[in-house]
Amino acid sequence: MTHQAVTRGGQTSLAPQHATPRIRVKGLGKRYGALEVFRNIDFEVGEREILAVVGPSGCGKTTLLRCVDGLLPHDAGEIWVGSERISEPIAGVAMVFQHFGLFPWKTVFENVAYGLRMAGASRSEIERKVPDFIKMVGLAGFEQAYPYQMSGGMQQRCGLARALALEPSVLLMDEPFAAVDAQTREILQFELLRIWEQRPTAMIFVTHSIEEAVLLGHRVIVLKGRPSTIHETITIDLPHPRTRATLREPRFAELRERVWSTLMHEAREAEFQLER
Ligand SMILES: Nc1ncnc2c1ncn2[C@@H]1O[C@H](COP(=O)(O)OP(=O)(O)O)[C@@H](O)[C@H]1O
Ligand SMILES: [Mg+2]
Repeated sequence: MTHQAVTRGGQTSLAPQHATPRIRVKGLGKRYGALEVFRNIDFEVGEREILAVVGPSGCGKTTLLRCVDGLLPHDAGEIWVGSERISEPIAGVAMVFQHFGLFPWKTVFENVAYGLRMAGASRSEIERKVPDFIKMVGLAGFEQAYPYQMSGGMQQRCGLARALALEPSVLLMDEPFAAVDAQTREILQFELLRIWEQRPTAMIFVTHSIEEAVLLGHRVIVLKGRPSTIHETITIDLPHPRTRATLREPRFAELRERVWSTLMHEAREAEFQLER
């Protein structure tokens, strides 16, 4: 295990291949009333980089994504996407939600078209683009289906197509595969990697699956403590494209153990922490 792979604390410099940052978060802090969720969060995400974020339930992962998306105001620090400072949602940033976030009364086609319509796309643009994104996520033939007619995996494919249709430079993924069964999850992880290889973006991928973080991430940040801070940043030096064979590499097991030991220590502390 090389110790260069691990950085203690919040300093996360970009690897050379990701030298242009797309997202810059500096000194970020957020509270809900008396509850301070996190503080001093610093990281950058390259324009073709997947940053995985792991941390125990309740540590503020969803809150962090909603701040980056501009849906929630932050209390301290700054968030930049390209040259824009985030204080409200901006074009070019798309989110995929844990519980899919689809409109139940809209078809797959209309769900995928929704963001484009909101962005003022013309009818012909929608007719042209939407089928391509539906196809990209493997849902061709299901354009007229409603969410209740589809499995969780298919619903999340639709959620992904809706985000991709916006052709974002930043994709925010909030435990997108947590609500599907284990086999579907594995399929979707590799589908996501395939799509990302075709259309690389800056991505923040929140998960509490260590395997998933190591499989998908170029780097993994571990949130820890109350309030949370970045406890560790681990560079995942596994080659791309990542495939099922990646899961069998000794280096994969080493890195998974590295993240596991950090996170499990924290999970135990959190479990035994008394409310004050
Ligand atoms: N709207 C809210 N108002 C008050 N507290 C909240 C709100 N949303 C989340 N929290 C609290 O903030 C903390 C972080 O929540 P969240 O970001 O959802 O964590 P995670 O996604 O890591 O599970 C939790 O203690 C949660 O109960
Ligand atoms: Mg969450």
